[in-house]
Amino acid sequence: MQADIVVLPGDGIGPEIVSATVPVLEAVARRFGHQFRFAEHDIGGIAIDRHGEPLPAATLEAARKADAILLGAVGGPKWSDPNATVRPEQGLLAIRKALGLFANLRPVRPHPAALGASPIKSELLAGVDIVVVRELTGGIYFGDKTRSDADATDLCRYTVAEIERVVRVAAELARQRRGHLTSVDKANVLETSRLWRDVATRVVRDEFPDVALEHQLVDSMAMHLLSKPRAYDVIVTENMFGDILTDEASMLAGSLGLLASASLGAARVGIYEPIHGSAPDIAGQGVANPYATILSAAMMLRHSLGLETEAAAVEAAVHGALDAKVFTADLAAQGAAVDTARAAAAVIERLA
Ligand code: NAD
Ligand code: IPM
Ligand code: MN
Repeated sequence: MQADIVVLPGDGIGPEIVSATVPVLEAVARRFGHQFRFAEHDIGGIAIDRHGEPLPAATLEAARKADAILLGAVGGPKWSDPNATVRPEQGLLAIRKALGLFANLRPVRPHPAALGASPIKSELLAGVDIVVVRELTGGIYFGDKTRSDADATDLCRYTVAEIERVVRVAAELARQRRGHLTSVDKANVLETSRLWRDVATRVVRDEFPDVALEHQLVDSMAMHLLSKPRAYDVIVTENMFGDILTDEASMLAGSLGLLASASLGAARVGIYEPIHGSAPDIAGQGVANPYATILSAAMMLRHSLGLETEAAAVEAAVHGALDAKVFTADLAAQGAAVDTARAAAAVIERLA
C-alpha cells in the first residue's frame, strides 16, 4: 500500500526518537512491499522559534491530508516561562482538537524481560495487560481560562456527546478483550464527574450489555493501579485524570520510555506518539528510549493503515530486543545501557 505519513519531531528528545523510528517504518515498507512517504513539519517550541506559533498553518494543512501522523514530543525550559503568551503545548492540544482526536489509547503491558526496571514487585506485574482510554479533546484542558493579578480559573466542562463517544470506544475495546471496563471519575466532588458516571452507566447498559462496568474514584484508582494492576482490563477516564494515571502506570512497565499511544477520532487519520514528553534532562545525548515511539508506530500501522500483520511484526521485534536485554539507560542496570540508535537498530535487525 501507499501511505503519506506526516512526521512532527518537535522538541527535546522528540527529534531523536522520531529519527530512530522512521527507519523502522522504512524497514516495514521494505519487508512487506509498501510505499510510505514521509513529510516533516514543525510543531511546538521549534515552530514558535521558526514561525512564531506552535502549530503553523502549513503543519495543520499537511496533517489534515495525511494518512497518519508520527509525533515526538513538544516543550522544554526555553519556552516554559509561566508568563509566556505562546507555549509549545498549545500546538499539541490544537492539533488534537483540530483533527477531532478525542480518544487516546494508552496500552500498559509490562514486558517479562523488563520487570526488573519497575519499582513494583514482579509478582504483581506478571500478566498485567491494561488499555487506558483517555478522553483527549475536552475537560479542563479546553475550558475557558482567566488570569488576573489576584486569581486564575480553568473551566472544566463535558458534554453528554463527548462522554458518550469516548465511552463507546472504550466499551468496544473491552468487548474485544476481556469484557471489563473501569470508568474513573471524581463523582463524590465534581459535577462533570457525576455526568460522566451517569452517561457511562447508560451507554454500557443500553449498548454493551455484555461488558462489565465498574466505577472507581480517581484517588483510590491511583492506589489500586499499583497494588492490583491485574484487576484491570480497559480503563476509561477524562482528559486530566488519564494524563496523570498513565504516567503513573508507566511504572508498571518500568519506564515512561515504553508507553505508546494512539489518538483517534471519527476519521482514519490519527496521531501516534509516546506518552512521555521532551525529556529536557537527557535531550541531545542520544540516550533516550525509542521503544515507546516505535510501539506508537506499530499502533499507526494497526489503527490508521489497517496493517495488523506489520503492526504485530514491529511489536514482536521490540519484544525480541527487550528479551535480548537491549536496554537504554532508563531500563538498564548501571553500565549496561545502549544508546537510542543501537536500540532502534536492534528492532530493525529483528524485522529484516
Ligand atoms: P517528560 O516525560 O519529558 O520526562 C519525565 C522523566 O522521564 C524525565 O526524567 C525524562 O528523562 C524521562 N523520560 C521521558 N521519556 C524518556 C525516554 N524516551 N527515555 C528515557 N527517559 C525518558 O516529562 P517532564 O520533564 O515533566 O516534561 C518535559 C517537557 O515535556 C515539558 O515541557 C512538558 O510540557 C513536555 N511534555 C510533552 C509531551 C508531549 O509532547 N506529548 C508529553 C509530556 C510532557
Ligand atoms: C501528554 C502530555 C500533554 C498532555 C501536554 C504536553 C499538553 O502531557 O501527551 O500526555 O497533557 O496531554
Ligand atoms: Mn502527559
